[in-house]
Amino acid sequence: MTTGERKREFQIALIPGDGIGPEVVEATIPILEKVVRKVGHSITWREFPWGCDYFLATGRMMPEDGLERLRPLDAILLGAIGSPGVPDYISVGGLILPIRRGFDQYVNLRPMRTLPGVESPLVRRTGSDLDLICVRENSEGEYVGKGGRHEIGSAEEWAEQTAVFTRRGIARIVRFAFELASRRPRRLLASATKSNALQYSMVLWDEVVEEVASRYPHVEWRPYHVDALAARMVSHPDTLDLIVASNLFGDILTDLGAALTGSLGLAPGANLNPDGQYPSMFEPIHGSAPDIAGTGTANPIGTLWAGALMLDHLGLREAHDQLLGAIGRVLAAGTIRTPDLGGSARTSELATAITAEL
Ligand code: IPM
Ligand code: MG
Repeated sequence: MTTGERKREFQIALIPGDGIGPEVVEATIPILEKVVRKVGHSITWREFPWGCDYFLATGRMMPEDGLERLRPLDAILLGAIGSPGVPDYISVGGLILPIRRGFDQYVNLRPMRTLPGVESPLVRRTGSDLDLICVRENSEGEYVGKGGRHEIGSAEEWAEQTAVFTRRGIARIVRFAFELASRRPRRLLASATKSNALQYSMVLWDEVVEEVASRYPHVEWRPYHVDALAARMVSHPDTLDLIVASNLFGDILTDLGAALTGSLGLAPGANLNPDGQYPSMFEPIHGSAPDIAGTGTANPIGTLWAGALMLDHLGLREAHDQLLGAIGRVLAAGTIRTPDLGGSARTSELATAITAEL
């Protein structure tokens, strides 16, 4: 905290959720508290017990006034949602997606960067260091939930799932991406398209990207068909920096990118409402991992890094940097690793080591 700056108390909504969600969140809380205290501020958590257990008890993933309860808070930290007893379209569709859409968190920002000491599966290639960021459209596209099932149960049954792309929706995410690319050292942007097969949505996407790009002559950019882009992330990741993608394409490319950094357990995501009209939400990109839930072995770093992105969003850049520094030093030392990174450490051991490093 610089002199004259007032001590702030951040009110953060906590939704631990299902599966390993509560475990990674529990490990993250004291570390975020510590790093925020170090820079002179404090956090007050408002915990919401929403998720699949809540659904089984009440028939809803969150109460009807859930969004109203979250609305006054500064940000939301989410663990993971989903449990074998509840279909994903109900669990995820009753909590994550309504928050993203209801709070117009139209940017889903996902860094994919190899951390110190963690080997990428690409390690034997030259130039395999990965430092990518995906700007994923998070409010429309393939995720609008439009469509239906027809002639249900008959041999002629069919389903339609309509993607809706608006000029306004594309333009705002692409502007966000070009602004961010302008501030990154390489000023390099890749647009994920598929206009060879999707003749309406992706042709509009390409046109809007082209228009927005003309206002950023200092950013070098190229469209790639998403399939070729996925291949390029593996074969030549060094030729990429920032990727702007639709909702579904961004979903797929960020799991790929996270796996390339060494583990899905490391990668964070920020669901941003850049206008600041609503709270933004921060979550690891991994799911609830029911297979290891309750074993105390989940990697807490995805949630911690998401927490660091939250602190950065709240204006605490220094706290963000300190936390990532501590994570990096523990990983580089290489002795304390959770099973996803080839070690045998428990969630709490890794969290304790990171706390000590702060
Ligand atoms: C993610 C997840 C979600 C998504 C699921 C749970 C709906 O995969 O955050 O990447 O597709 O957005
Ligand atoms: Mg995903």
